[in-house]
Amino acid sequence: MNTKNFLKKALFAISLAFAITLPANAQTPADDPHLGIIPAPASIKKTTGVFVFSQLTRIKVDNPKDKTTAFLKDFLLNNRHFNNRLSKYNPKVRTTGGTTLILTAKGADKLPKEGYKLTITPRRITIIGKGAGLFYGMQTFMQLFPVATSGTEKLPCVVIEDAPRFGYRGMMLDVSRHFFTVPQVKKVIELLATYKINNFHWHLVDGQGWRIEIKKYPKLTQVGGYRDQTMFGTNRDWPDSLSYGGYYTQDDIRDVVKFAADRFINVVPEIEMPAHSDAALRAYPELRCEQPADSKTPARSFGSLYCPTEETFTFLENVLTEVMALFPSKYIHVGGDEANKQPWKESAFVQNLIKEKGFKDENEVQSYFIQRMEKFINAKGRSIIGWDEILEGGLAPNATVMSWTGEEGGIAAAKQKHNVIMTPQTTGNYFDHYQSGSPQEPVSFGRYATLDETYNYDPVSKELTPEEQQYVIGTQGNLWTEYVPTMAKLQYQILPRLFALSEVAWSLPANKDYNNFANVRLAKHFARLDAKGYNYRVPIAMPVIDTMVFGQRFTWAPVSVVPGAKIYYTLNGRDPLDTDLEYNGNPITFAIPANEKREFKTRVITPSGRRSIASRVLMYNRTLMPAVNYTANKPGLTYKLLKTKFTTPDQLDYVTTKDSAMIDQFNAEPFKKDNPSFGAVYNGYINIPADGAYNFSQASYTDTQLFIDGEKLTETEPALPLAKGFHKITVKYIYNQPVLQPGAYRIRQTPLKVFITAPDGDKREIDAGMLYN
Ligand code: ACM
Repeated sequence: MNTKNFLKKALFAISLAFAITLPANAQTPADDPHLGIIPAPASIKKTTGVFVFSQLTRIKVDNPKDKTTAFLKDFLLNNRHFNNRLSKYNPKVRTTGGTTLILTAKGADKLPKEGYKLTITPRRITIIGKGAGLFYGMQTFMQLFPVATSGTEKLPCVVIEDAPRFGYRGMMLDVSRHFFTVPQVKKVIELLATYKINNFHWHLVDGQGWRIEIKKYPKLTQVGGYRDQTMFGTNRDWPDSLSYGGYYTQDDIRDVVKFAADRFINVVPEIEMPAHSDAALRAYPELRCEQPADSKTPARSFGSLYCPTEETFTFLENVLTEVMALFPSKYIHVGGDEANKQPWKESAFVQNLIKEKGFKDENEVQSYFIQRMEKFINAKGRSIIGWDEILEGGLAPNATVMSWTGEEGGIAAAKQKHNVIMTPQTTGNYFDHYQSGSPQEPVSFGRYATLDETYNYDPVSKELTPEEQQYVIGTQGNLWTEYVPTMAKLQYQILPRLFALSEVAWSLPANKDYNNFANVRLAKHFARLDAKGYNYRVPIAMPVIDTMVFGQRFTWAPVSVVPGAKIYYTLNGRDPLDTDLEYNGNPITFAIPANEKREFKTRVITPSGRRSIASRVLMYNRTLMPAVNYTANKPGLTYKLLKTKFTTPDQLDYVTTKDSAMIDQFNAEPFKKDNPSFGAVYNGYINIPADGAYNFSQASYTDTQLFIDGEKLTETEPALPLAKGFHKITVKYIYNQPVLQPGAYRIRQTPLKVFITAPDGDKREIDAGMLYN
């Protein structure tokens, strides 16, 4: 059993009544200091009165034909059914009577880059801004409208002065692992524009598919645009032989670039090199170092590299020449990540190149590769971005580093005075990650990144001096699409995390407040998504997805941030459906008989029918388990190793062996070397620092059992109320060397680890320092 890192906590209540009314939500939309706007503006000053927008409101603009005006007209007509009179703005002519909306660049000279000023008085709205600034002012103005349309719209009187914290605010979409059509890509771009994101990083090329037409190399899309498999199974382990793919023609690309530019979004194309290039190498195998693929090469042979030959450089220069003709972007992304250098290690050509150029190793070959491409791109007046591995072997002189493996690459690059875009996979910026640890989440990638993790990230590391901090030019969210085959899943993965990202990228840290964001402002934005038919992850109605609590009496008050959502609940252990009990808003109290358990589950269903995952709280009325009488204070565990095959840890109960040995902590790795199959029983004591409810969990490749004072803990009942002092801990573990299943290409093996979560939620591995025997 592979125990997931559940978002599961044990709360402890020994008092008679335990009431939870969450979230602690003091604010209502009426007193929200940010007026519901995402991302939070730099400054909002509320004034008195309201502006009543109606069909009679006159609109005055500098240029009735410009992009922002076109948007405004579209919004008013198609979203609000208004077709207001529009004329050229002349500051010398004062309008009298009625209401007026003015959009102008006059007075914008003093504003920061991309900044705007929005002033609403009872008779007049003025949006001052230039280019993108005016566009963002209009986006903020549009967000002030109520979600539901009526004939007259009341807007609060206010003065908003706003500008972004970072110049680069990005989102990346991978269209290689799964392909998204032009209309689908535009739908993503529209969303970015609404939230003031100004760079769309288009990951057009990867091992699983080449998606951009290159006239000089038609096989890139004809061959490289298609692959041989639909993925089956959660880990994409079982391909079939049906063709999957697609690509964008150069006309498609121009169309998307213009669509984005109309919304003040720059499109950064990414052409991966030297790795993630298998699609290109399937089309043009002569660009590999190793022999061309033959019929014996497995279909899924990812991990090859371009060979750094003159032929490769000419090919890539020709590709980039066409790419640069299509994309006006200052930045051209050249990838550079995850290059496993093995093919270069085995290549006589590369080894010879290393000798000839006096390179230390293959990392310097990658550096040479990227620097050559940079020189070519710089000569055309553009700049490169590369993933942080381009630091290895020496950074190209003018490169911007996109820090993804963690923050370290970005920090190192900033210290070398290189521009940096922070998009670490460790800080909530990877939107392909799960949104919680619950097994109910749709299949996603690797770890989980919660909304608050995304929200609370600060791209400017404290490790940088104020001077070095200037090199952090922005941040980005990345959506890799291995597990994103549909538009609904795409939207689920990015919403609402994209909203959090936009606030990280745009808003001043002093204006950020997760409680206000998640429990107040999100309401209006979810309602908008519902109205527009977007999918999104619906937050649960309880503070924790899966909780075990101890006490006699509990009161729960579930709440949903989604306007009009209903909360259904069960008391029978089933995950709630819309046929179950509907929560009526009055807190529910439970009185649990002594030594008995009761289960309360909730689920949110929005007006558009979208469902949250189900939450669960298990209430258990039992008293503290007393500490055992143990005084030896001898560190380590005893274990018994049984060198035979078991199918379940239960069988370990029937083995009698007196041979026992010592080990410092729960660790099965040393036994695996000599034993393809074995069982191990670990025994010891754990020192519990204070009375409270403690949660235990384990991670392992196979089935594992965990006991505290002889009581078995499970995924559904993972906690016990323990008195301060020593408690007996036992782990029963079995191992059988895994066999590669037919069609599978890898095995995941998780080493044995045991974890404890303290009553305050602090989770840690139970290590040598905590164990005695
Ligand atoms: C990456 O996630 N490999 C950049």
